[in-house]
Amino acid sequence: MLSNTFLHLSALAVSFLGTAQSAPLTFRLGKRDVAFDYQNDKVRGVNLGGWFVLEPWITPSIFQPWATSMTVVDEYTYTQTLGKDAASTALTNHWNTWITEDDFTQIGQNGLNHVRIPIGYWAVAPLDGDPYVQGQLDVLDQAIGWARNANLSILLDLHGAPGSQNGFDNSGRYGPVDWQQGDTVSQTITALQMLAQHYSGDTDVVTAIELLNEPLGGSLNLDELKTFYQSGYETVTGASGNYATCIHDAFQNFETYWNGFMTQASSGDQNVILDTHQYQVFSPAQVAMSPTDHVSAACALGPQLASTDKWTIVGEWTGAQTDCAQWLNGLGKGARYDGTLANSGSSYVGSCAGKSTGTVADLSSDDQYNLAHFIDAQLDAYEQHTGWIFWTWRTESAPEWHLQNLTAAGLFPNPPTSRTYPGQCSS
Ligand SMILES: *[C@@H]1O[C@H](CO)[C@@H](O)[C@H](O)[C@H]1NC(C)=O
Ligand SMILES: *[C@@H]1O[C@H](CO)[C@@H](O)[C@H](O)[C@H]1NC(C)=O
Repeated sequence: MLSNTFLHLSALAVSFLGTAQSAPLTFRLGKRDVAFDYQNDKVRGVNLGGWFVLEPWITPSIFQPWATSMTVVDEYTYTQTLGKDAASTALTNHWNTWITEDDFTQIGQNGLNHVRIPIGYWAVAPLDGDPYVQGQLDVLDQAIGWARNANLSILLDLHGAPGSQNGFDNSGRYGPVDWQQGDTVSQTITALQMLAQHYSGDTDVVTAIELLNEPLGGSLNLDELKTFYQSGYETVTGASGNYATCIHDAFQNFETYWNGFMTQASSGDQNVILDTHQYQVFSPAQVAMSPTDHVSAACALGPQLASTDKWTIVGEWTGAQTDCAQWLNGLGKGARYDGTLANSGSSYVGSCAGKSTGTVADLSSDDQYNLAHFIDAQLDAYEQHTGWIFWTWRTESAPEWHLQNLTAAGLFPNPPTSRTYPGQCSS
């Protein structure tokens, strides 16, 4: 989840970059067989957010005791404040209840074929002195069987790296970006190696591993990031050979910046998936867009996605057209949409009443109508290349982000190939 104020420039640039090119698509099949056919099938999936990496806005009830003091803002401070024993008890309960086998069954019944599962390095390779607790892997091991039963592929996504690769709460630790300092890159490779080895017997289900979620390009050395991607690729494919390797665009333009890197047709690298995240709610200009602007911006992405030189997914996106969901921008923080987010340069666009908390059923009929159009348009755009993974399956109180309930309400198509509002991107 992209949820930080200083990201809005790159997100905006991506959204409005209207220079679609029409380079021919040149792929060749991977040298090794991956169980999901990323070349010919569309990825249609959902993220299991807030499960193995806490995010205050997905499960505000866990963070409610610190809503005023704001001394606990992420999984790091949560475990640090509770201590190992209490944190272990609380999180074990959370892991066993937030997502269960029934969710995997429903996701399969909704016609999806992928789940993307965020996990932190601390699940497999905690560092000395870390407050984080473990036990996630036992639950994930069970979930492999649930996914197999539901015929779902898993994109396993390293969401938090030592030092934090982006400073977002969803990296485990809110604050400075200290990844690439000290030994953090090699520690990240160690975590990837352990994950890849651990699931090397399950590559019928775990079809791809994402090396690192949302490294904050503007705060990192991009050449070193590329070197990390190359060695991460060797690590993941060396473990069994049957995983696809997924790399995030680091908020650089997914087409103009990344074309030419790890290109399937021209380098030795194969089975590489580029992951780009497309939100339209993290800048003042984006939250001021009209519903038709949002649809047009989504549609403009389709031809750009089609022009990349490697498999490309939109691995995070949403139905939301505002940043009103409670604590979306961080625990205790306000929203751009109603002008309450400090230091964001935002001014009042509209009221967050009815958008910040509540259920899908509570959304106004206008909001439901606009959201359903926006979702159908994004599906049309993102299927112009390898596919998409919605953020997220469930939230406690952020209705526009709640795929399970959006589907039940008929606002997200089931099956995902059907459309209530077809052809929005072809006019
Ligand atoms: C399982 O999923 C794959 C990939 O989406 C699909 O090709 C296949 O038909 C599915 N099998 C069943 C039994 O649904
Ligand atoms: C989702 O649906 C469940 C079951 O109807 C309901 O209890 C919950 O409040 C809903 N949440 C949202 C955010 O829509």
